[in-house]
Amino acid sequence: MLFTSLTLPNGRILKNRVVKSGLSEALCDSKNNPTNDLISIFKRWSQGGAGLLITGNIMVDRWHLEHAANFVLDQSTNFSKASELANAAKIAGSLVLAQLSHAGRQTPKAINSTPLSISNLKLDLQGYGQPTVATEQDLIGLADQFSSSAKIAEKCGFDGVEIHAAHGYLLSSSLSPRINNRSDKWGGSVTNRTRLLQIILQRVRSAVSKDFIVAVKLNSSDFQQGGLEISESVQIASIIEKEKIDFIEVSGGNFESPKAYQYTSLKESTKTREAYFLDAAKNIKEAVGIPVMVTGGFRSRSIMEEALSSSATDLIGIGRPFIIDPSFPNKLFSGVMSVLPTNERNFPPAQEIPKGAVLNWFCDQLRIQGKTGRGDTNIPLLHGHNRYLEQSDETIRHLILHRKNKK
Ligand SMILES: Cc1cc2nc3c(=O)[nH]c(=O)nc-3n(C[C@H](O)[C@H](O)[C@H](O)COP(=O)(O)O)c2cc1C
Repeated sequence: MLFTSLTLPNGRILKNRVVKSGLSEALCDSKNNPTNDLISIFKRWSQGGAGLLITGNIMVDRWHLEHAANFVLDQSTNFSKASELANAAKIAGSLVLAQLSHAGRQTPKAINSTPLSISNLKLDLQGYGQPTVATEQDLIGLADQFSSSAKIAEKCGFDGVEIHAAHGYLLSSSLSPRINNRSDKWGGSVTNRTRLLQIILQRVRSAVSKDFIVAVKLNSSDFQQGGLEISESVQIASIIEKEKIDFIEVSGGNFESPKAYQYTSLKESTKTREAYFLDAAKNIKEAVGIPVMVTGGFRSRSIMEEALSSSATDLIGIGRPFIIDPSFPNKLFSGVMSVLPTNERNFPPAQEIPKGAVLNWFCDQLRIQGKTGRGDTNIPLLHGHNRYLEQSDETIRHLILHRKNKK
């Protein structure tokens, strides 16, 4: 089933079921436009044979980035560079979606010390500022930003957008009963907490053409006390399905509870099953009539096939293996490979290494791939981690300098 095509509700056809999930590449220049390194990575990913590529976070607001080198789609974007990226990502027949996001309270303090959020609850991590609570006008303004970015994405040649409402960013925190403590029509019941996402989807859908794909990434659970749980994410999926979306991607967790990219902290039972959120995806799929994609943990072809044939999911989302071996889909299809790279399993448990080290090692591998065309898995964990942190500090310095020069 992995090699069969899938027709989405709007009629667009994915040539197979393997999807590259969003991987925040953070490889843009100080004006937040794609670099040639980033464009070359997307070309390789397309040539690798996946049916669909979803970009990492593309921000709708320059003051709400999750990384200083994020790609931004707004009126100041260099449209020709954005088109170059979209064309590179489609060069071998894959479709490409721009993942539209607003970082909300997960915007680093160095980028914005008072980020807009759904509530005044500050992220419980170092390096993040005290949020400004969004007014009704701000929330309506957000819908304008998302729809305007979607329109630009279409103009630049993307096949669609994925609205990022997972992983603790602004839309995810609006859905979360733990973070969204509002008592107006934007908070409280599931219906109220979904209102912002729903309005954004309506605005996006009406801003783009019928055959432009509109997808949503949702948390199955925040994996935090008082946070979003699967019973509510099923209800949210049923509400947003009515907004003519083409599929829902299922993930989980946020910066405080990073469950989307687990490694050695995995329970034995999850290791055998591989896919972290498959049961949740099944629950959501049973409640909706549109395709569902689940991302996180898939490494064995047999398990991917089983997930598809058991009707728990329609699409298999994969992240980290694309960083290590961009051509793995073709190898899976030809039978040369049956298990994808599992580098994340080689690292010590979380409590023995610095916070974020494994994630940062993968980010460093992405950067190397952009420069040289291939990763270098011999790089030690701490070396990759520290180098990534140094590079991130430098990109923040460049961004701040660029902002000062503009004033
Ligand atoms: C370096 C890195 C960057 C990521 N950036 C994003 C992102 O921008 N958007 C997103 O939705 N998920 C992001 N994720 C999560 C991945 O899409 C995916 O859910 C996660 O890696 C688990 O899938 P895997 O086990 O196949 O890697 C990122 C993961 C990694 C490792």
